Amino acid sequence: MLMKNQTILITGGAGFIGSNLANYLSKNNKVIIVDDLSMGRLSNLVEEDNIDVHIHSITDYIFLDTIFKQYKFDYIFHMAAVASVADSIKRPLQTHEINSNSVIHILELIKKYQPELKRIIFASSAAVYGNLPDLPKRETSDILPATPYAIDKFSSESYLLNYGNSCGVKASAARFFNVFGENQNPSSPYSGVLSILMDKLKKQLSGRQAVFTCFGDGNQTRDFIYIRDVINALVLIAENEKSIGEFYNIGYGKPTSLLEIIELMEEVTNQKIELKYQEERMGDIKYSYCDNQKLKSLGFLPMYTVRDGLVNYINSELGTNYE
Ligand code: NAD
Ligand code: UD1
Repeated sequence: MLMKNQTILITGGAGFIGSNLANYLSKNNKVIIVDDLSMGRLSNLVEEDNIDVHIHSITDYIFLDTIFKQYKFDYIFHMAAVASVADSIKRPLQTHEINSNSVIHILELIKKYQPELKRIIFASSAAVYGNLPDLPKRETSDILPATPYAIDKFSSESYLLNYGNSCGVKASAARFFNVFGENQNPSSPYSGVLSILMDKLKKQLSGRQAVFTCFGDGNQTRDFIYIRDVINALVLIAENEKSIGEFYNIGYGKPTSLLEIIELMEEVTNQKIELKYQEERMGDIKYSYCDNQKLKSLGFLPMYTVRDGLVNYINSELGTNYE
């Protein structure tokens, strides 16, 4: 890792992706976090010395103004958002304020106070591609955002790149596919599916009853990518001049169905996960996976297959040594 002695703002830095990034970057850099702890947890953050946490909403624009005035940021990773597609369908106005308006505010603050910013990286999503049938998704594929979440992600990406053109803000967007691993919070019914499955597994192993609700037939596919590869990808994008004004698919590049990932978990742990089926979720994407060639052209090489990542995740959550 080359990034050293930099001042880095991570919004949503106590959350899943943000905390893994903060723990990694704080070894050699000063990390400033803004998180309202709606999903994030302070216990996700291991390296305290180099991390300053501000417990505020990114929609508290008076507060944001003070920290943008106070610090000179080298990099900003804008990870804070309501990450659930289903939640955005339930609460479109609230999630729009967080997932979209805050991005424009941050861009305005960069324009005002941070002329030397080296890069802002925005957490976009595979959801922007919608349910169009062409697969794998390439950055050149058509997009059809079909939920408030996806619409906000796409419009924010577009703002970001527009500010690059018109005001010289150096920006890149990361279109995450389905990231999994340590520190993902399972506490909401809208949490990431692998964190929910892990939670069920833990309950089951401690002798409690645990039934996983599968929305739809379980044949929907996702491109699961392990968090450590995602952190490498983010740093690679941030440090590469070629990525200014660009967006990148961040996925492993392979489809796995929900039933397949459940089977994989069962095979690794030698447990049977009990399922009950419910109607498919509104706005759910049926099939998703990406071509990650553009990211690879920056030098990205995923280190973890889905299975390897899952084994690491299971072992770190359960304290086991499965292989
Ligand atoms: P997460 O929920 O763990 O992290 C989001 C963080 O933002 C949380 O710590 C939460 O407390 C914080 N937050 C939410 N609203 C806030 C507000 N108003 N003010 C301040 N902080 C707020 O989710 P994650 O999986 O780490 O996702 C990080 C980003 O990546 C999000 O923007 C999400 O939309 C995007 N993304 C994630 C995935 C994935 O598979 N995990 C895929 C695509 C995109
Ligand atoms: C996830 C991310 C979203 C991101 C998108 C990119 C979260 C919470 N969501 O959404 O931010 O933009 O990937 O691809 O991180 N499911 C069940 N039972 C459950 C939970 C989920 O069957 O208890 C199903 C869902 O209906 C869905 C699949 O599992 O078909 C994956 O769900 P989820 O983890 O919420 O991910 P996405 O909706 O793909």
